[in-house]
Amino acid sequence: MNYPNPTSVQNFSDSAYSASTADASNDWAIEAINVSHRFGVGRGQRIAFANVNLTVKKGEFISIVGPSGCGKSTLLNLIVGFQRPSTGQIIVDGKRVVGPGADRGMVFQKHCLFPWMSVRANIEFGPRMSGINQSERRKIADEILELVGLRDVAKNATYELSGGMQQRAAIERALANRPKVLLMDEPFSALDAFTRERLQDELISLWTRTNTSILFVTHSVDEAVYLGTRIVAMKAHPGEVILDVQVPRNNDQDRSRESYQKDLQLQSLKEQISISLRTTAFRTA
Ligand SMILES: Nc1ncnc2c1ncn2[C@@H]1O[C@H](COP(=O)(O)OP(=O)(O)OP(=O)(O)O)[C@@H](O)[C@H]1O
Ligand SMILES: [Mg+2]
Repeated sequence: MNYPNPTSVQNFSDSAYSASTADASNDWAIEAINVSHRFGVGRGQRIAFANVNLTVKKGEFISIVGPSGCGKSTLLNLIVGFQRPSTGQIIVDGKRVVGPGADRGMVFQKHCLFPWMSVRANIEFGPRMSGINQSERRKIADEILELVGLRDVAKNATYELSGGMQQRAAIERALANRPKVLLMDEPFSALDAFTRERLQDELISLWTRTNTSILFVTHSVDEAVYLGTRIVAMKAHPGEVILDVQVPRNNDQDRSRESYQKDLQLQSLKEQISISLRTTAFRTA
């Protein structure tokens, strides 16, 4: 079956990088160029992944899918700047990443909210650390509380919220710095199926309204295809990108679950991705 713009990983040629890095206007939100990462030294050394090349356009929603240990979290940690890559470089919005910054927001599998603070105080925390004054902080928090629909619980402590609400608050907190890039590491995997679907839909709506570039890690191929405009699949041992494909959505305006389920091309893409993941898993096991 032919998908529009299928991009094999080999398509990320050297010329693509030089074109992107040479372009001063910079359409790229993220460029990971020949990035490899190792943990440990000597005999205990472990290669997390090798030669990852990934370019993310501004406003793209990339789903990263792959088995446990293929390096998904490590890749996000490098992009957010918690660690430096062993080789290669990561560029966000034209600037080389050398550490964490407010231009990149991160949402983890388990929310990392400050439990003693209210939802509002959690949201205002980032802007406060950036030196933004109180009235501006309140304005930012108001906007985001409205956007994510947590206005009613703004004054509650975060431990008083349900798991789904806590994850929404974590997304809010990440958005409060108005990041250029939102990195999400299995943010919905600990939620029940019903809440997960609701948050998936809320995320699509949020992304549509803010046009933030999103890198979303998941184990679920279904979630990856439902959410993403592009899918990057990885294999493990060592981690490598095995597939990088555009999601052939017939109608970008209609992101309803019904039309997704009825779209045979998307269902077939899901099957293809699952087969690729299974095949490489068996080959390397
Ligand atoms: N701090 C660390 N020290 C040593 N090895 C590590 C460290 N963090 C990750 N690794 C190794 O790097 C590889 C990639 O790990 P990573 O956590 O990025 O995988 P993942 O794809 O996110 O897996 P999962 O789906 O289970 O979250 C694994 O082999 C892991 O054991
Ligand atoms: Mg992980």
